[in-house]
Amino acid sequence: MTRFIYDLKRTHRAGSLRDTDIGKEVILMGWVQNRRDHGGAIFIDLRDREGVTQIVFDQSIDAKAHEVASQLRSEWCFAVRGKVRSRGGNVNPKLATGAIEVAANLIEIFTRAKTPPFPLDDHADQTAEETRLQYRYLDLRRTPLQRNLQMRSKFNQIVRRALDEEGFLELETPFLIKSTPEGARDYVVPSRVNPGQFFALPQSPQLFKQLFMVAGYDRYFQIARCFRDEDLRAERQPEFTQVDIEMSFCEPSDVQNVVEKLLARAWKELLGVELKLPFERISYQDAMDRFGVDAPDMRYGLELRDVSDLVRESGFKVFADVTRAGGIVKAINITGLGDLSRSELDALTDVVKIYGAKGLAWAKVKEDGEWQSPIAKFFSDAERKAIAERLALKPGDIAAFVADKKTVVNAALGNLRKHLAKTKNLIDKATHRFCWVTDFPLFEYNEEDKRWYAAHHPFTSPRPEDREKLLTDQGNVKALAYDIVLNGVEIGGGSIRIFDHGLQSDLFRALGIEEEEQRQKFGFLLDAFQYGPPPHGGLALGVDRIMMLICGTDSIRDVIAFPKTQKQTDLMLNAPSELAEAQLKELMIKTVVPAKK
Ligand code: AMO
Ligand code: AMP
Repeated sequence: MTRFIYDLKRTHRAGSLRDTDIGKEVILMGWVQNRRDHGGAIFIDLRDREGVTQIVFDQSIDAKAHEVASQLRSEWCFAVRGKVRSRGGNVNPKLATGAIEVAANLIEIFTRAKTPPFPLDDHADQTAEETRLQYRYLDLRRTPLQRNLQMRSKFNQIVRRALDEEGFLELETPFLIKSTPEGARDYVVPSRVNPGQFFALPQSPQLFKQLFMVAGYDRYFQIARCFRDEDLRAERQPEFTQVDIEMSFCEPSDVQNVVEKLLARAWKELLGVELKLPFERISYQDAMDRFGVDAPDMRYGLELRDVSDLVRESGFKVFADVTRAGGIVKAINITGLGDLSRSELDALTDVVKIYGAKGLAWAKVKEDGEWQSPIAKFFSDAERKAIAERLALKPGDIAAFVADKKTVVNAALGNLRKHLAKTKNLIDKATHRFCWVTDFPLFEYNEEDKRWYAAHHPFTSPRPEDREKLLTDQGNVKALAYDIVLNGVEIGGGSIRIFDHGLQSDLFRALGIEEEEQRQKFGFLLDAFQYGPPPHGGLALGVDRIMMLICGTDSIRDVIAFPKTQKQTDLMLNAPSELAEAQLKELMIKTVVPAKK
């Protein structure tokens, strides 16, 4: 007996057959995507990783094959041999293989399948995500996810090729380590042989890649898994992947050039898009001023303008009080969206309130240039004119104002801007707008415990010109740190590191980190830095976010094979889960979680 797999090897993938293959005898293996039984002829769409091919089991060609095929149901796994033939008048232009079909003369059913809990077709999106995550291996059979993960595989290969050519070594770093300084909570792993002691999983390979530089490896990269226990938001996962890069003897533009070339290559090979290099640069300050956020989406306008100076003396008490108390007033010219109704404006007020704003003041500009607005009466002609000029208001435009602390105003209007762009379809989905955000502040002030924290991590170098301000004027020290942003999503970040001992001590002093804490947290790195560290710097790209943007999906879960839910759980594994009593005992761990009723 001739058998598939042993005697009859697969000759093609299901997505590859074209009309140039007509007349060939082929062997395909895959799953039943769809079946239509027309009595004498049964049509099966066979699906594999690469696509779908229509197979016909025609009684008049092979009665035995037709009889076996009549048993096939959705998602059964089978092999088939047959001749490629033209579909004649029934060409399916939506399918890459739509010009042909395979007329079967031999079939073997490998395995049967239960009826899947949801249809594995284009309508699967209507199934609850929980169900799809529980049966992830079925969801992964669907074409969009197959395509996303194949793109991801290709992206990784491009990264490897591009960085190898630039002289970067791909080196691995350990998972069982001590806490790393990325500012999230650590996932910890108990050590059985050292009872009461724990490893931390790396939030990034940051410290190790710097040690590689100390060790003279010059250029390092790794496609590295990172673990961060943080409250999940849309573009975050508790474990995620970085293209982690570090290089010696570099300035920011050296790192940026490597990254730009890498991304340009990926965009070209994966999307056929030619990116214009170098990417645009915008300072953190400009980004905050104009867009209210540090990862600006510059595919559309609606920029923020500060009007504090114009309303300080006005009769509108809210604005006058806020500016006098050290707050600011900013506005957006909502232009080109047509007239917004009262209820639409109320809905916008609800949006800014999410970000802590107390209200949204607005003014519609009428045909004659006059303002239709509940607050128009509080402003003089001169004030209205000055505001109109700053916002470039024309008849039909609407000015929307928020007055508050600077952080609240920026968050409120920055997110109002995003909301308007999304709901009013202002975004051209085909644009890929990259930018570097530079000159981040080195320190962030925490109002609660009234002290400065490192905005990035404590090894980030200040700009040389700000060195003098390190201990006296922390708020105005800018870092040699840069983020890369694509369409408003932060896809990577990095910095030039401190390699000078005196500078590092001053920085710790500025952060109020005592010698003892320094030693306890980073002793090994500080020691290493006493043995001739080279000037160095680097960056890490967020692979999941990049793939989300390359694949054009809204969720990073669509580009991760086995993602976690917003609650940091895995519904397929049913993890995390409790440990058996014996395992806890061996680890000498006792939990204090109250028993469930
Ligand atoms: P950073 O913390 O900015 O820098 O991380 C770099 C990039 O990783 C991505 N990212 C995430 N993606 C998915 N889920 C998450 N929870 C998540 N957190 C971060 C983002 C981000 O821009 N060691 C430094 C890099 C360096 O200085 O070289 C670091 O980890 O796209
Ligand atoms: P009020 O005088 O409180 O009724 O507010 C008049 C208008 O100003 C309303 O449209 C409010 O939404 C708006 N408003 C109130 N507080 C602020 C604020 N802090 N910033 C911007 N607009 C505000």
